[in-house]
Amino acid sequence: MVEKFLEGKGALITGGASGFGRGIAIEYAKRGADIILVDINEELLNETCKKIEQEYKQKVIPIVCDVSKSEQVQDMAKRAFKELDNIYILNNNAGIGDLYGPDLLRIKEDIYDRIMDVNLRGQWLVSKYVCKQMKSQKFENESLSGKVIHTASIAGMVVDLKLSAYTLSKVGIIAMVKMLAQSLAPKITVNAISPGYHITGIYNYSEDAMKATMDDGRVKTPLNRMGTVQDVANISVFLASPLSNFITGHNIPVDGGIAEVGVPANYIKSEI
Ligand SMILES: NC(=O)c1ccc[n+]([C@@H]2O[C@H](COP(=O)([O-])OP(=O)(O)OC[C@H]3O[C@@H](n4cnc5c(N)ncnc54)[C@H](O)[C@@H]3O)[C@@H](O)[C@H]2O)c1
Repeated sequence: MVEKFLEGKGALITGGASGFGRGIAIEYAKRGADIILVDINEELLNETCKKIEQEYKQKVIPIVCDVSKSEQVQDMAKRAFKELDNIYILNNNAGIGDLYGPDLLRIKEDIYDRIMDVNLRGQWLVSKYVCKQMKSQKFENESLSGKVIHTASIAGMVVDLKLSAYTLSKVGIIAMVKMLAQSLAPKITVNAISPGYHITGIYNYSEDAMKATMDDGRVKTPLNRMGTVQDVANISVFLASPLSNFITGHNIPVDGGIAEVGVPANYIKSEI
Protein backbone atom coordinates (compact mmCIF):
# COMPACT_ATOMS: atom_id res chain seq x y z
CA MET A 1 0.00 0.00 0.00
CA VAL A 2 1.33 3.47 -0.90
CA GLU A 3 0.56 6.60 1.10
CA LYS A 4 -2.11 8.68 -0.69
CA PHE A 5 -0.39 12.01 -0.13
CA LEU A 6 -1.75 13.46 -3.37
CA GLU A 7 -5.43 13.15 -2.42
CA GLY A 8 -7.22 16.46 -3.12
CA LYS A 9 -4.53 17.51 -5.57
CA GLY A 10 -4.37 17.57 -9.35
CA ALA A 11 -1.43 16.88 -11.65
CA LEU A 12 -1.02 18.07 -15.22
CA ILE A 13 1.42 15.97 -17.24
CA THR A 14 2.47 16.77 -20.81
CA GLY A 15 3.59 13.96 -23.08
CA GLY A 16 1.34 11.85 -20.91
CA ALA A 17 0.18 9.28 -23.45
CA SER A 18 3.40 7.27 -23.45
CA GLY A 19 6.76 6.61 -21.75
CA PHE A 20 7.70 8.64 -18.68
CA GLY A 21 4.52 10.74 -18.76
CA ARG A 22 2.32 7.67 -18.60
CA GLY A 23 4.48 6.04 -15.89
CA ILE A 24 4.39 9.20 -13.78
CA ALA A 25 0.59 9.51 -14.19
CA ILE A 26 0.14 5.95 -12.90
CA GLU A 27 2.28 6.62 -9.81
CA TYR A 28 0.44 9.87 -9.05
CA ALA A 29 -2.99 8.22 -9.52
CA LYS A 30 -1.96 5.44 -7.11
CA ARG A 31 -1.29 8.20 -4.55
CA GLY A 32 -4.73 9.77 -4.99
CA ALA A 33 -4.13 12.56 -7.55
CA ASP A 34 -6.62 13.51 -10.23
CA ILE A 35 -4.81 13.87 -13.52
CA ILE A 36 -4.83 15.88 -16.72
CA LEU A 37 -2.86 14.19 -19.45
CA VAL A 38 -1.79 16.36 -22.38
CA ASP A 39 -0.47 14.90 -25.61
CA ILE A 40 -0.43 15.39 -29.36
CA ASN A 41 -1.28 11.74 -30.06
CA GLU A 42 -5.04 11.65 -29.55
CA GLU A 43 -5.63 7.93 -29.96
CA LEU A 44 -2.88 6.86 -27.56
CA LEU A 45 -3.85 9.63 -25.13
CA ASN A 46 -7.48 8.45 -24.89
CA GLU A 47 -6.37 4.85 -24.49
CA THR A 48 -3.91 5.74 -21.69
CA CYS A 49 -6.43 7.91 -19.85
CA LYS A 50 -9.11 5.21 -19.94
CA LYS A 51 -6.74 2.54 -18.65
CA ILE A 52 -5.46 4.64 -15.74
CA GLU A 53 -8.96 5.83 -14.79
CA GLN A 54 -10.32 2.28 -14.76
CA GLU A 55 -7.45 0.84 -12.80
CA TYR A 56 -6.90 3.54 -10.16
CA LYS A 57 -10.40 5.09 -9.92
CA GLN A 58 -9.14 8.68 -10.18
CA LYS A 59 -10.31 11.35 -12.61
CA VAL A 60 -8.01 11.22 -15.68
CA ILE A 61 -8.79 13.88 -18.28
CA PRO A 62 -7.25 13.88 -21.77
CA ILE A 63 -6.44 17.17 -23.51
CA VAL A 64 -5.07 17.02 -27.04
CA CYS A 65 -2.51 19.76 -27.57
CA ASP A 66 0.69 20.41 -29.49
CA VAL A 67 2.84 22.06 -26.81
CA SER A 68 4.85 23.97 -29.41
CA LYS A 69 1.77 25.96 -30.50
CA SER A 70 0.97 28.96 -28.30
CA GLU A 71 -2.77 29.10 -29.01
CA GLN A 72 -3.20 25.41 -28.31
CA VAL A 73 -1.25 25.72 -25.05
CA GLN A 74 -3.35 28.70 -23.92
CA ASP A 75 -6.58 26.81 -24.68
CA MET A 76 -5.22 23.74 -22.94
CA ALA A 77 -4.36 25.75 -19.80
CA LYS A 78 -7.84 27.31 -19.64
CA ARG A 79 -9.53 23.95 -20.06
CA ALA A 80 -7.24 22.31 -17.54
CA PHE A 81 -8.15 24.77 -14.76
CA LYS A 82 -11.85 24.42 -15.63
CA GLU A 83 -11.59 20.66 -15.25
CA LEU A 84 -9.47 20.74 -12.07
CA ASP A 85 -9.18 23.75 -9.77
CA ASN A 86 -6.38 22.17 -7.74
CA ILE A 87 -3.47 21.61 -10.13
CA TYR A 88 -0.60 21.25 -7.67
CA ILE A 89 1.88 19.44 -9.89
CA LEU A 90 2.98 20.25 -13.41
CA ASN A 91 5.17 17.71 -15.19
CA ASN A 92 6.54 19.57 -18.18
CA ASN A 93 7.64 16.38 -19.90
CA ALA A 94 6.66 16.29 -23.61
CA GLY A 95 9.64 16.02 -25.92
CA ILE A 96 10.90 14.43 -29.11
CA GLY A 97 14.21 12.78 -30.00
CA ASP A 98 13.81 13.04 -33.75
CA LEU A 99 16.92 12.53 -35.83
CA TYR A 100 20.08 10.78 -34.55
CA GLY A 101 23.35 11.54 -36.33
CA PRO A 102 24.02 14.94 -37.86
CA ASP A 103 26.14 17.37 -35.85
CA LEU A 104 25.27 21.05 -35.55
CA LEU A 105 26.94 21.91 -38.86
CA ARG A 106 24.96 19.27 -40.77
CA ILE A 107 21.54 19.24 -39.15
CA LYS A 108 18.76 20.57 -41.40
CA GLU A 109 17.07 23.79 -40.32
CA ASP A 110 13.57 22.31 -40.31
CA ILE A 111 14.63 19.46 -38.03
CA TYR A 112 16.53 21.84 -35.73
CA ASP A 113 13.46 24.11 -35.55
CA ARG A 114 11.04 21.28 -34.78
CA ILE A 115 13.20 19.89 -31.96
CA MET A 116 13.72 23.31 -30.39
CA ASP A 117 10.01 24.16 -30.82
CA VAL A 118 8.71 21.07 -29.08
CA ASN A 119 11.43 20.48 -26.49
CA LEU A 120 12.36 24.01 -25.39
CA ARG A 121 9.66 26.41 -26.58
CA GLY A 122 7.00 23.81 -25.71
CA GLN A 123 8.09 23.46 -22.08
CA TRP A 124 8.47 27.24 -21.80
CA LEU A 125 4.97 27.88 -23.20
CA VAL A 126 3.37 25.36 -20.86
CA SER A 127 5.05 26.92 -17.80
CA LYS A 128 4.19 30.41 -19.03
CA TYR A 129 0.47 29.66 -19.28
CA VAL A 130 0.02 27.23 -16.37
CA CYS A 131 2.26 28.48 -13.55
CA LYS A 132 0.66 31.88 -12.96
CA GLN A 133 -2.63 30.33 -11.93
CA MET A 134 -0.84 27.67 -9.89
CA LYS A 135 0.94 30.40 -7.94
CA SER A 136 -2.32 31.99 -6.79
CA GLN A 137 -3.72 28.76 -5.36
CA LYS A 138 -3.94 27.88 -1.66
CA PHE A 139 -3.82 24.38 -0.27
CA GLU A 140 -4.71 23.61 3.32
CA ASN A 141 -1.73 22.49 5.41
CA GLU A 142 0.70 23.24 2.57
CA SER A 143 3.36 25.93 2.54
CA LEU A 144 3.65 25.67 -1.24
CA SER A 145 1.05 26.24 -3.94
CA GLY A 146 2.64 23.92 -6.46
CA LYS A 147 5.53 21.93 -7.86
CA VAL A 148 6.88 22.00 -11.39
CA ILE A 149 8.99 19.14 -12.71
CA HIS A 150 10.64 19.39 -16.12
CA THR A 151 12.05 16.44 -18.03
CA ALA A 152 15.51 17.41 -19.29
CA SER A 153 18.20 14.86 -20.24
CA ILE A 154 21.82 13.99 -19.52
CA ALA A 155 22.40 15.36 -23.04
CA GLY A 156 21.78 18.73 -21.40
CA MET A 157 24.62 18.01 -18.95
CA VAL A 158 27.23 16.46 -21.25
CA VAL A 159 26.89 17.42 -24.90
CA ASP A 160 26.00 14.67 -27.37
CA LEU A 161 27.23 15.55 -30.85
CA LYS A 162 24.85 13.14 -32.59
CA LEU A 163 21.85 14.59 -30.80
CA SER A 164 22.92 18.14 -31.52
CA ALA A 165 19.66 20.11 -31.54
CA TYR A 166 18.26 17.84 -28.85
CA THR A 167 21.31 18.63 -26.68
CA LEU A 168 20.80 22.38 -27.12
CA SER A 169 17.13 22.08 -26.24
CA LYS A 170 17.93 20.18 -23.03
CA VAL A 171 20.73 22.58 -22.00
CA GLY A 172 18.02 25.22 -22.36
CA ILE A 173 15.63 23.32 -20.09
CA ILE A 174 18.24 23.08 -17.31
CA ALA A 175 18.84 26.85 -17.55
CA MET A 176 15.09 27.54 -17.74
CA VAL A 177 14.50 25.56 -14.54
CA LYS A 178 16.95 27.80 -12.66
CA MET A 179 15.22 30.95 -13.91
CA LEU A 180 11.70 29.67 -13.24
CA ALA A 181 12.73 28.55 -9.75
CA GLN A 182 13.68 32.17 -8.99
CA SER A 183 10.56 33.64 -10.61
CA LEU A 184 8.17 31.27 -8.85
CA ALA A 185 9.80 31.20 -5.39
CA PRO A 186 8.72 30.95 -2.64
CA LYS A 187 5.34 29.52 -3.71
CA ILE A 188 6.35 26.93 -6.30
CA THR A 189 9.39 24.67 -6.52
CA VAL A 190 10.84 24.01 -9.98
CA ASN A 191 13.24 21.16 -10.70
CA ALA A 192 14.35 18.99 -13.59
CA ILE A 193 14.89 15.28 -13.94
CA SER A 194 17.59 14.24 -16.41
CA PRO A 195 17.13 10.67 -17.58
CA GLY A 196 19.91 8.73 -19.33
CA TYR A 197 18.93 5.82 -21.60
CA HIS A 198 15.48 4.40 -20.90
CA ILE A 199 13.29 2.29 -23.14
CA THR A 200 10.27 4.42 -24.09
CA GLY A 201 8.42 5.61 -27.18
CA ILE A 202 11.41 7.78 -28.08
CA TYR A 203 13.24 4.50 -28.92
CA ASN A 204 10.05 2.91 -30.30
CA TYR A 205 10.12 0.73 -27.19
CA SER A 206 13.03 -1.15 -28.78
CA GLU A 207 15.86 -2.32 -26.52
CA ASP A 208 17.93 -3.03 -29.65
CA ALA A 209 17.53 0.54 -30.97
CA MET A 210 18.64 1.97 -27.65
CA LYS A 211 21.56 -0.47 -27.31
CA ALA A 212 22.74 0.46 -30.83
CA THR A 213 22.73 4.16 -29.87
CA MET A 214 24.67 3.44 -26.68
CA ASP A 215 27.20 1.24 -28.50
CA ASP A 216 27.71 3.89 -31.19
CA GLY A 217 28.51 6.50 -28.53
CA ARG A 218 30.59 4.02 -26.42
CA VAL A 219 28.40 4.79 -23.43
CA LYS A 220 29.28 3.02 -20.18
CA THR A 221 26.80 2.87 -17.31
CA PRO A 222 28.33 2.40 -13.83
CA LEU A 223 25.17 0.71 -12.54
CA ASN A 224 25.37 -1.67 -15.50
CA ARG A 225 21.78 -1.80 -16.71
CA MET A 226 19.41 0.12 -18.93
CA GLY A 227 17.08 2.71 -17.43
CA THR A 228 13.36 2.08 -17.01
CA VAL A 229 10.28 4.30 -16.92
CA GLN A 230 9.91 3.38 -13.26
CA ASP A 231 13.36 4.82 -12.40
CA VAL A 232 12.16 8.24 -13.56
CA ALA A 233 8.61 7.93 -12.16
CA ASN A 234 10.10 7.20 -8.69
CA ILE A 235 12.05 10.49 -8.64
CA SER A 236 9.03 12.35 -9.93
CA VAL A 237 6.99 11.01 -7.00
CA PHE A 238 9.71 12.26 -4.64
CA LEU A 239 9.71 15.71 -6.28
CA ALA A 240 5.90 15.80 -6.07
CA SER A 241 5.97 14.86 -2.38
CA PRO A 242 6.50 17.00 0.74
CA LEU A 243 9.86 15.23 1.22
CA SER A 244 11.33 17.52 -1.47
CA ASN A 245 9.78 20.80 -0.31
CA PHE A 246 13.19 22.45 0.28
CA ILE A 247 14.60 21.58 -3.16
CA THR A 248 14.26 24.05 -6.03
CA GLY A 249 16.25 25.09 -9.10
CA HIS A 250 18.02 21.74 -9.41
CA ASN A 251 18.56 19.15 -12.09
CA ILE A 252 18.52 15.55 -10.85
CA PRO A 253 20.13 12.98 -13.13
CA VAL A 254 18.52 9.52 -13.14
CA ASP A 255 20.98 7.74 -15.37
CA GLY A 256 22.76 4.91 -13.56
CA GLY A 257 25.72 7.26 -13.10
CA ILE A 258 26.51 7.88 -16.79
CA ALA A 259 26.78 11.69 -16.75
CA GLU A 260 28.86 12.16 -13.60
CA VAL A 261 30.82 8.96 -12.99
CA GLY A 262 30.36 6.91 -16.16
CA VAL A 263 31.18 7.42 -19.82
CA PRO A 264 28.66 9.63 -21.65
CA ALA A 265 28.29 9.46 -25.44
CA ASN A 266 31.47 10.39 -27.31
CA TYR A 267 32.43 9.92 -30.93
CA ILE A 268 36.09 10.90 -30.88
CA LYS A 269 37.95 8.36 -32.99
CA SER A 270 41.34 8.64 -31.26
CA GLU A 271 42.11 5.80 -28.82
CA ILE A 272 44.89 7.70 -26.97
N1 LIG B 1 13.71 7.80 -23.08
C1 LIG B 1 14.87 8.32 -22.74
O1 LIG B 1 15.87 7.61 -22.64
C2 LIG B 1 14.98 9.79 -22.45
C3 LIG B 1 16.21 10.28 -22.01
C4 LIG B 1 16.32 11.62 -21.67
C5 LIG B 1 15.22 12.45 -21.77
N2 LIG B 1 14.04 11.97 -22.24
C6 LIG B 1 12.90 12.91 -22.30
O2 LIG B 1 11.77 12.35 -21.68
C7 LIG B 1 10.59 13.03 -22.14
C8 LIG B 1 9.50 12.01 -22.43
O3 LIG B 1 9.91 11.18 -23.49
P1 LIG B 1 9.78 9.58 -23.45
O4 LIG B 1 11.15 9.03 -23.45
O5 LIG B 1 8.83 9.17 -22.39
O6 LIG B 1 9.21 9.32 -24.92
P2 LIG B 1 7.77 8.96 -25.44
O7 LIG B 1 7.84 9.14 -26.92
O8 LIG B 1 7.36 7.61 -24.93
O9 LIG B 1 6.80 10.04 -24.81
C9 LIG B 1 6.76 11.37 -25.27
C10 LIG B 1 5.30 11.79 -25.44
O10 LIG B 1 5.30 13.17 -25.84
C11 LIG B 1 4.30 13.33 -26.83
N3 LIG B 1 4.61 14.50 -27.67
C12 LIG B 1 5.54 14.60 -28.65
N4 LIG B 1 5.49 15.81 -29.23
C13 LIG B 1 4.50 16.49 -28.61
C14 LIG B 1 3.97 17.79 -28.76
N5 LIG B 1 4.42 18.63 -29.69
N6 LIG B 1 2.95 18.16 -27.96
C15 LIG B 1 2.46 17.32 -27.02
N7 LIG B 1 2.92 16.07 -26.83
C16 LIG B 1 3.92 15.66 -27.61
C17 LIG B 1 4.34 12.04 -27.63
O11 LIG B 1 3.16 11.84 -28.37
C18 LIG B 1 4.57 11.02 -26.53
O12 LIG B 1 3.35 10.50 -26.03
C19 LIG B 1 11.06 13.87 -23.35
O13 LIG B 1 11.17 15.21 -22.96
C20 LIG B 1 12.41 13.28 -23.68
O14 LIG B 1 13.25 14.19 -24.31
C21 LIG B 1 13.90 10.67 -22.59
